[in-house]
Amino acid sequence: MKRFNLRHEILLQLVESAQDGIVVAEKEGDDTILVYVNPAFERLTGYSADEILYQDCRFLQGEETNLDAVTVIRHAINDQAPVRTVLKNYRKDGSVFWNELSVTPFYDEVEQITYYIGIQKDVTTQVELALELDVARETIQQLTEQLATQS
Ligand SMILES: Cc1cc2nc3c(=O)[nH]c(=O)nc-3n(C[C@H](O)[C@H](O)[C@H](O)COP(=O)(O)O)c2cc1C
Repeated sequence: MKRFNLRHEILLQLVESAQDGIVVAEKEGDDTILVYVNPAFERLTGYSADEILYQDCRFLQGEETNLDAVTVIRHAINDQAPVRTVLKNYRKDGSVFWNELSVTPFYDEVEQITYYIGIQKDVTTQVELALELDVARETIQQLTEQLATQS
């Protein structure tokens, strides 16, 4: 693999200063437990690293989390395949955000274990606009049908 001469500590500082959440997890039984979270993840979720390290990220899920997205993630992790999906998550204070999550496995030959990198992007504005657009389209459709039956 061809690489630029990027010092490893610079790579870590770049991850630490990223705008999106970046986490690393490893498998433990049925869980994938967090072994690293960057500051953007702490800001996004309201949890400090100390509170959530060694836990599975599902603590971000709640009542309204779309179960189909969770199933897609679970299957991808079991198949050691990359996945990208959007799901509803909950911050520590209970507020909701839409999370565009990508999870990618990486097999470490040295330790002979699979690590997973997760990247969390807050797409709440985009998802809410898309949902409003759906409602507006539906309303236009209904009005158009009403007008057609009246004429
Ligand atoms: C690296 C990594 C990051 C993850 N990040 C999130 C996340 O931000 N939000 C979330 O709801 N689930 C996240 N997950 C998914 C959950 O940890 C869990 O795998 C998922 O809920 C499916 O498993 P379950 O059905 O046993 O809960 C992440 C998983 C991995 C491996």
